[in-house]
Amino acid sequence: MSSPVRVAVTGAAGQIGYALLFRIASGQMFGPDTPVELRLLEVPPALGALEGVAMELDDAAFPLLAGIELSDQAETAFAGVNVACLVGAKPRGPGMERADLLKDNGKIFTGQGAALASAGASDLKVAVVGNPANTNALIAAANAEGLPAERFTAMVRLDENRAKSQLAKKAGVPVAEVTNLAVWGNHSPTMVPDFDNARIGGRPATEVITDREWLEGEFLTTVQQRGKAIIDARGASSAASAASALVDHVANWCGGKPTADGDWVSMAIPSDGSYGVPEGLISGFPVTTDGNGTYEIVQGLELSDFAQQKLQASVDELQQERDAVADML
Ligand code: NAD
Ligand code: LMR
Repeated sequence: MSSPVRVAVTGAAGQIGYALLFRIASGQMFGPDTPVELRLLEVPPALGALEGVAMELDDAAFPLLAGIELSDQAETAFAGVNVACLVGAKPRGPGMERADLLKDNGKIFTGQGAALASAGASDLKVAVVGNPANTNALIAAANAEGLPAERFTAMVRLDENRAKSQLAKKAGVPVAEVTNLAVWGNHSPTMVPDFDNARIGGRPATEVITDREWLEGEFLTTVQQRGKAIIDARGASSAASAASALVDHVANWCGGKPTADGDWVSMAIPSDGSYGVPEGLISGFPVTTDGNGTYEIVQGLELSDFAQQKLQASVDELQQERDAVADML
């Protein structure tokens, strides 16, 4: 057994929190040999509900769960944490875009960024889920003085998983056969699920699914609009699938599960200028990971004119979001 990983989850009494905590505590994020200590942050009115969740975590008798602490103070919850999952934020309702949440949710991330910098462990890593996730991660990083920006990531893994599932269905193959699927840009309707570089059963996806009209049309729109489709159908935004994608995101990044040889995963990370994405913007990229805290952008991929145009629109949107929160950066 290794020493415990201390994991903070914000918004822990919310929908995603309820699905996420049991996955973390059961060992799915950090593997079967790593105990976890949970540090759960909520707003004061939700602390009662959070106590109920903690009681249920106790009742599950997870062998790897080494402790649970609840707090409504960011500095307390983040003390010594190695990994922070920033989920706590308002979800959008019907008729809203994720960017509509920016002003309300953005301010959560100024204080939490600062608290992470002052209280987190020296190897702290941060994954932002609360929407609009890319720009919230930018805000948190900008307010975390002394912490390298590359420790701040946002989740586009749900979009990757959604895209893989759509391609697998169309090709009539198990989803595990779809690999090398990157989602570029913003976690918003401008996101770019990259079918040109994806593979199905080891072959280029575009050789297996030759209907380019479907790829550029129905496939793209289905993935881009999946969050809305779920809100419309469920009356609430995706929760269990989001928690599952976060488990995937963190497990690959620092949970001992490196990307498979030749494959990559999607993470929104601060751009180093690769592929023309302006430096500093937090954008989805294909990355390889070592499972131990390091990721690298996959270089040398070709983007079609279609994909480049779409990526530019997503980058423009990220820049507009950044401009809208300039006072928080
Ligand atoms: P929810 O409303 O069920 O839960 C959010 C929780 O956050 C609530 O319990 C609330 O009390 C708490 N909270 C609010 N402000 C807080 C603060 N300052 N500190 C700590 N906790 C705080 O919402 P949810 O369905 O769990 O979704 C959470 C967020 O995740 C939303 O913004 C949603 O849009 C986003 N989301 C992102 C993705 C993605 O792929 N990036 C996917 C699904 C949902
Ligand atoms: C999702 O993609 O399901 C989430 O970002 C929730 C939303 O508002 O779409």
